[in-house]
Amino acid sequence: MLALAAEHDVLVVADEIHAPLVLPGARHTVAATMPEAAGVRLLTVTSATKAWNLPGLKCALAVPAEPSLRRALRRLPVRDRLGASILGIEASAVAFEEGAGWLAAVRAHLDRNRRLLADLLAVRLPEVGYLPPEATYLAWLDCRPLGLADPARTFYDAGRVRARRRRHVRNARRRVRPGQLRHQRGDPDRDRGPDGRRGAAALNPECRRRFGRHRGDG
Ligand SMILES: Cc1ncc(COP(=O)(O)O)c(C=O)c1O
Repeated sequence: MLALAAEHDVLVVADEIHAPLVLPGARHTVAATMPEAAGVRLLTVTSATKAWNLPGLKCALAVPAEPSLRRALRRLPVRDRLGASILGIEASAVAFEEGAGWLAAVRAHLDRNRRLLADLLAVRLPEVGYLPPEATYLAWLDCRPLGLADPARTFYDAGRVRARRRRHVRNARRRVRPGQLRHQRGDPDRDRGPDGRRGAAALNPECRRRFGRHRGDG
């Protein structure tokens, strides 16, 4: 892709916001460091907001690979260029400089949960396709063999996934909290299989480990 971009002088914006959340066994390569990036107008964007859970604090970074992009960034409206909050800047600096311990714990947690999810699916929903992610906190489930019209909705309504922190759960009987299971918005056909059935659901297995247990499991 970088070679194509170079050939056609296309601006590439590499969003590397999830990069710190690469999980054990995988490696992330920053696009700008690849040999193919030479000569590409490449803008790397990132933030501490995902890995250190700081989204509300509003701070992101854009790293231009060449002077023309630096000049282009300077021409952005002040609001976009300097709109980060002071708290966001401070928190991001602390995250990047001193947050290695936090990040290691988050990654270990995600690593355990991706394996826990694989184990639970193998026992309870063996038909569901699941390739444990190499990074970040989304687990994509191929639910086409279940033949459900809208798997994410079914899981949301009837799933036995429970939130531990009750304040996230408006109705204590509701066992999935919004955000743990995503409905696919936007293109309604995006998650349809060749047979036209909806088949994908994305689970956020960053939640606490109790999410896989429920009454009667001991
Ligand atoms: C790939 C990617 N880039 C950027 C963002 C925006 O991050 P933030 O919420 O910190 O603005 C998101 C948020 O979901 C994302 O998934």
